[in-house]
Amino acid sequence: MSNSSGIERDSFSGRFAVVAAVAGSAIGLGNIWRFPYLTGENGGGAFLLVYLFFVVFVGIPVMTSEFVIGRATQRNPYGAFKKLAPGKPWYLIGIMGVAAAFMILAFYTVVAGWTLEYFYQSVAGNLSGKNDAELTQMFDGFVKNPFRPMLWFLVFMGLTAMINFSGVKNGIEKYTKILMPLLLILLIILCIRSVTLKGAAAGLTFLFRPDLSKINPQVILTALGQSFFSLSIGMGTLITYGSYIKKDENLASSASLVVASDTLIAVIAGIAIFPAVFALGGSAASGPGLVFIILPSVFQNMPLGIFFATLFFILLALAALTSTISVLEVIVAFMAEELNMARRKATIIATVSVSALGIITALSYGPLAGLKLAGKNVFELLEYLTSNIMLPLGGLFIVLFIGWFLNPELTKNELTNDGKFKGRFLPLFRFLVRYIAPVAIAAVFLYGLGIIKL
Ligand code: PFF
Repeated sequence: MSNSSGIERDSFSGRFAVVAAVAGSAIGLGNIWRFPYLTGENGGGAFLLVYLFFVVFVGIPVMTSEFVIGRATQRNPYGAFKKLAPGKPWYLIGIMGVAAAFMILAFYTVVAGWTLEYFYQSVAGNLSGKNDAELTQMFDGFVKNPFRPMLWFLVFMGLTAMINFSGVKNGIEKYTKILMPLLLILLIILCIRSVTLKGAAAGLTFLFRPDLSKINPQVILTALGQSFFSLSIGMGTLITYGSYIKKDENLASSASLVVASDTLIAVIAGIAIFPAVFALGGSAASGPGLVFIILPSVFQNMPLGIFFATLFFILLALAALTSTISVLEVIVAFMAEELNMARRKATIIATVSVSALGIITALSYGPLAGLKLAGKNVFELLEYLTSNIMLPLGGLFIVLFIGWFLNPELTKNELTNDGKFKGRFLPLFRFLVRYIAPVAIAAVFLYGLGIIKL
């Protein structure tokens, strides 16, 4: 397959490969680290309910739209908008996406580094025989350390760069196909252990019985942001991946399948964590340390605990890796195609510059903890700005573009593969991208940021 400039373009090899690669991007720390900690901080079941609403009514339309834009143009996000809307400012979405990729990589890879530390600690036997207080102390001590978080961050950045170096198809496909199913199995084992602990029922109630009085503007904005973050949408990652999808794949059904798997994994992670939190006496609102404190407790309560802990943290690291490569790919594809850089050179420049910001981020619970803006350290600031502001804003413009600007014939051709299938869902899709998704995002913005009050 070649694009207009005649360069051979990499592509995914088949249906399963597409879904696996996109699911590899979507499934990661967002599901297993971030979803539980945010659910714990934002009222449990109420958060889950709002989250599910956004996943279905905003997430699926935005993801499908990104695929359409990517596959129709065979370009990175910036180039894609330039091609579809020449002379118009839509390409700014692509620029914001590259900026968001930069910022996400700088904090996400730090957390990915935490999983490597825990993998190491588990192999070294340091996760056993500790109570909740000791595990909390261990986590706090680690993130405050002036070297280790930075070191692991750099290791992970290096791994990511190595895979992107060799290109999309060789790099990305191979890993996801085996890893995701394995991670799922391990999570299910964890769920079984967690729900059979004494006192586990309270955790299931917390997760599945929504207390609607907990819903407030902040909860809604956080749920919207998390749906974007978890699905890898709103910054053009899936425009980039969409550009590698072959012409005979069904875009809408691939998107729905990925959204369903991603959401399932998040909910399963919740089932693995909350019953244990309540049974073992932790706090649901422990923040970003939640899974790193609770899961080692669960492992201690099961046969072959060390073995499972080791396996878990390495799989989590690998799930994070299939996400970081997709984020780095946004920057690399942009630099390679728009700045005419060799792919390898682009990878190196992107990696070095992200690392500069990432090092600061890695130190933001330790030596740089005092560096704060609006009460947030560098890590929290990057996390807040990207997932609560930049991704939803990007998503808003993406659905507006598809719903109101782009010729509907083009969307129809992409979604029916030039009429090969009927596309009975098209009217529904159109309604979602024109009205429901943009109104939902805009309303949450105005409400969540305190601009309007109900
Ligand atoms: N979706 C990934 C996760 O849930 O771990 C994180 C992520 C990847 C966010 C790619 C954004 C992105 F473009």
